[in-house]
Amino acid sequence: MRLFTGIQPSGDLHIGNYFGSIRPMIASQNEHEVFAFIANYHAMTTVTDGKRLAELTMQAATDFLALGMDPERSTFWVQSDVKEVLELYWALSSFTPMGLLERAHSYKDKVAKGIAANHSLFSYPVLMAADILLFEAEVVPVGKDQIQHVEIARDIALKFNNEYGDIFKMPEFRVDENVATVPGIDGQKMSKSYGNTINIFGAEKQQLKTIKKIVTEPIPMEEPKEFEGCNVYNIAKLFLDEEKQVALQQRYKSGGEGHGHFKLYLAEVIWEYYRPYREKREYYEAHQDEVRDILAAGAAKAREAAGNVIEKVRSVTGIAY
Ligand code: ADP
Ligand code: TRP
Repeated sequence: MRLFTGIQPSGDLHIGNYFGSIRPMIASQNEHEVFAFIANYHAMTTVTDGKRLAELTMQAATDFLALGMDPERSTFWVQSDVKEVLELYWALSSFTPMGLLERAHSYKDKVAKGIAANHSLFSYPVLMAADILLFEAEVVPVGKDQIQHVEIARDIALKFNNEYGDIFKMPEFRVDENVATVPGIDGQKMSKSYGNTINIFGAEKQQLKTIKKIVTEPIPMEEPKEFEGCNVYNIAKLFLDEEKQVALQQRYKSGGEGHGHFKLYLAEVIWEYYRPYREKREYYEAHQDEVRDILAAGAAKAREAAGNVIEKVRSVTGIAY
């Protein structure tokens, strides 16, 4: 089965991204054919500082390789290195009713947040459909906010196929209900836009400072504490096996320690958990040329995979003459 995913290079990765999407994707490389790319064309809808976008793209590549993206087993590339996607985007545009895009929640939400209502933001789902259809994605694992975009891709594919025959494979979205929503330091869903994140690769001092800000109930040190519903515990348990979870629960129940102690413990647990990934990241950071080589090889693999569909599209639309 071909799993397909796009990652916007939009800043520092946090532990919500890690447990919600990166870790499941990395794990699925063992069983499935994974296609993952850095969606830098999509990021142009919000990042207009060119130098920054270039940096963010390399940062995303470095982070994903460090976290276990395996370029041997999977296909990992930067969206703009396979320009066929822009060609398909245009071909699909004639099969995209305006009303379909006008109903897109993500577009309406972004405009409501003050992002300029321009054409690239509006046609964002058509480019995403081009990604998905060009690479014959079978399953697209998504968060709830992206379901509609996969449905739009299906609608467009159907219209195109109705006109030209069976060109596109129908993609399915998959929402993993088992994946927990990771709480932020204020207890709301962790998200860049809420400013409540704990980053994966933050500096040690900064991490500790952030973790100390986790909101907790004010209870005297000596008293027993509830672990259920405690933000510190709820984050810690993601990193702990059963035995260590029970041990931490016991510390809450027995009293004698304050939330400050649990926060120090959490900081240590997170720091240790990411140690091997941090070391790998430092390696890639010092060898950016190697990262570029990996991306170039990934793009070649991706272009090859895209060849079949784009040739058919050129032929049936009459663009190949
Ligand atoms: P953010 O909300 O910080 O902008 P993104 O929207 O870029 O994060 O999310 C990228 C991926 O990480 C998505 O697949 C999303 O479902 C997942 N993700 C983000 N935040 C969380 C969270 N708090 N818990 C679980 N998964 C999350
Ligand atoms: N829109 C996705 C997001 O913001 C990123 C993305 C672009 C994508 N193209 C894709 C995801 C194709 C899955 C498939 O998270």
